[in-house]
Amino acid sequence: ALITSKEIFAKALTRDYAVGAFNVNNMEIIQGIVDAAKEENAPLILQVSAGARKYARPAYLLKLVEAAIEDSGLDIVLHLDHGEDFDICKKCVDDGFTSVMIDGSKHPFEENIALTKQVVEYAHSKGAVVEAELGKLAGVEDNIKVDARSATFTDPDEAAEFVKRTGVDSLAIAIGTSHGAYKFKGEPYLDFERLKKIHELIPDTPLVLHGASTVLPEFVARCNEYGGNIPGAQGVPEDMITTATKYGICKVNIDTDLRLAMTAEVRKFLIEKPEEFDPRKYLSPARDAIQRMVQHKIKNVLNASNQ
Ligand code: G3H
Ligand code: 13P
Ligand code: NA
Ligand code: ZN
Repeated sequence: ALITSKEIFAKALTRDYAVGAFNVNNMEIIQGIVDAAKEENAPLILQVSAGARKYARPAYLLKLVEAAIEDSGLDIVLHLDHGEDFDICKKCVDDGFTSVMIDGSKHPFEENIALTKQVVEYAHSKGAVVEAELGKLAGVEDNIKVDARSATFTDPDEAAEFVKRTGVDSLAIAIGTSHGAYKFKGEPYLDFERLKKIHELIPDTPLVLHGASTVLPEFVARCNEYGGNIPGAQGVPEDMITTATKYGICKVNIDTDLRLAMTAEVRKFLIEKPEEFDPRKYLSPARDAIQRMVQHKIKNVLNASNQ
């Protein structure tokens, strides 16, 4: 069935694992992820960005996720990733999403609170849950300056006040991760002291880690070997993600690693088999590559197998 994340987060909070939240854009990606979760017997969140919604068109992703539930028999959370205003959150709740993110992190504190409260009120009245964000995800250019950290990373006291005043169900925090394939210029760094402080102040609030892809060198190398051009890509080391799951991180967002796995496989196939032109021929191994990547994340990074 389509479920909210309430129970799975409550359980994840008490144990050293986190639930994977994987971005979906089309059928093959959904199938690869769902097959992996089924194989690992793991809780699962499928998330749809505004861009994904636009690309696939709202009705398609909804029906594809319904089909995945019917086909797999799994319980799945359907979540809006980075909703930027009340309107898109409302639309998704009305469509049947069980969870939405209102990302008010670009707004001043009080405006973020007001916007989040509005979404919480509506979503809760319809039985859906809400994730909010406080603090800004660092860009690669920000990661050297120590001063910039306290300006952009989540302030623990503000986090506590934010959760109390909004009644939000989970909170995305900024401790040094960022979106995409270029997360750090030098040594990767996450502010675990800050994370521990936040978790201490709001121990009952499930925390969310965005920008959590590892950008595994093997997949970057395969893309580049078969005609790609993504030099210098770097993500969050896997052991850092695992550590984060011990300090309140219950949801780990992964998109870039799926994109890299899929693209590496398609590139390789098309170069090695130039005579093929049936999309099923290259999308099957691409789907398998997604499944392998997601199983690896669930099993070896998030420790969510059989949870
Ligand atoms: O937060 C970003 C996710 O990776 C989704 O990316 O907006 O390109 O679909 P997107
Ligand atoms: P990555 O770009 O690290 O995969 O992060 C995805 C994400 O945070 C989606 O909200
Ligand atoms: Na946990
Ligand atoms: Zn994100």
